[in-house]
Amino acid sequence: MTGISNPLLPAKGIIRSIVPLAQDNFLFEVQLEQPDGLSNCQPGQFVELWIPGVGEAPISVCSGRVGSSIELCVRRAGRVTNALFQMSEGEWVGLRGPYGTGFPLSAYRGQNLVLIAGGLGVAPIRSLWQYILDHRDNFGELILIYGMRHSIDLLFRAEFKILLRRRDIDVYIAAEDVVGPELPTVSFQLGRVTDMIQLAPITANFQAAICGPPVMYKYVVQELKAKGISDTNIWLSLERHMKCGIGKCGHCFVGGQFTCKDGPVFSLADLLFLPEAIECA
Ligand SMILES: Cc1cc2nc3c(=O)[nH]c(=O)nc-3n(C[C@H](O)[C@H](O)[C@H](O)COP(=O)(O)OP(=O)(O)OC[C@H]3O[C@@H](n4cnc5c(N)ncnc54)[C@H](O)[C@@H]3O)c2cc1C
Ligand code: FES
Repeated sequence: MTGISNPLLPAKGIIRSIVPLAQDNFLFEVQLEQPDGLSNCQPGQFVELWIPGVGEAPISVCSGRVGSSIELCVRRAGRVTNALFQMSEGEWVGLRGPYGTGFPLSAYRGQNLVLIAGGLGVAPIRSLWQYILDHRDNFGELILIYGMRHSIDLLFRAEFKILLRRRDIDVYIAAEDVVGPELPTVSFQLGRVTDMIQLAPITANFQAAICGPPVMYKYVVQELKAKGISDTNIWLSLERHMKCGIGKCGHCFVGGQFTCKDGPVFSLADLLFLPEAIECA
């Protein structure tokens, strides 16, 4: 196994910490033996996580500050993630990448931003808000909207408690069903992300970053367009079945584009040429 500076080969990383977040969602901090390649990764990019003898799965970069370690927020889904959930701190995994385009940080510079996350879509959006808060002077107004079905599904509860107290980010957390121990410490709004978009002071001069379940995209886009935001300023992260992550196997090919290589982040203007991408996104 070689360093991650060769993006085709996995690099070894030691699991440093495993933090349960909610239900079947854990945050894994992986310490890299040779961090060179990954230290350049951008919010919105992903890595291929390799468990020897089991297989690989694409997982979003979840931390905005990637140095010698990287954070991955993982939901138990199938073969690879089940195997990961059975591992302990001190064991090693392979990582290759980073892959994909990521969110357009240069287009976002100096702009007002609204970040919209649904469910596990909060993983790549977290890397984006951490990056922006670390370079706060480079950006304008910042609104963060995070929606989930049940309030007990809230991920990064401790971090949200801190974010809600900051004055340089306006945070809206929405759940369709609000019950449980989060209530006294995190202020939820009853509803969906689309209700929060209506509520928030978003205007036509915002750029948007979106990641969430496929069903969410159409309705979120409708609300953002109703606020006057143009297609070129709406950026969506698409999730597709991926294998190689580098544009070779064709698993993620849709509308003439490789989601792994040309995305996963696309502007809505790009997706208008790929109607099937947004329809089934
Ligand atoms: C760009 C990108 C970024 C991503 N980022 C993240 C992330 O940050 N965190 C995260 O948790 N996930 C993320 N994913 C999703 C993750 O890659 C998938 O969930 C991946 O399939 C998990 O691999 P697995 O081997 O554990 O699951 P798989 O074995 O591939 O199973 C995936 C799905 O198939 C179903 N399935 C599996 N076996 C069976 C069966 N026998 N019968 C019926 N259904 C079955 C499972 O229920 C599950 O829904 C991302 C995906 C992409 C493309
Ligand atoms: S995952 Fe293989 S081509 Fe995109």
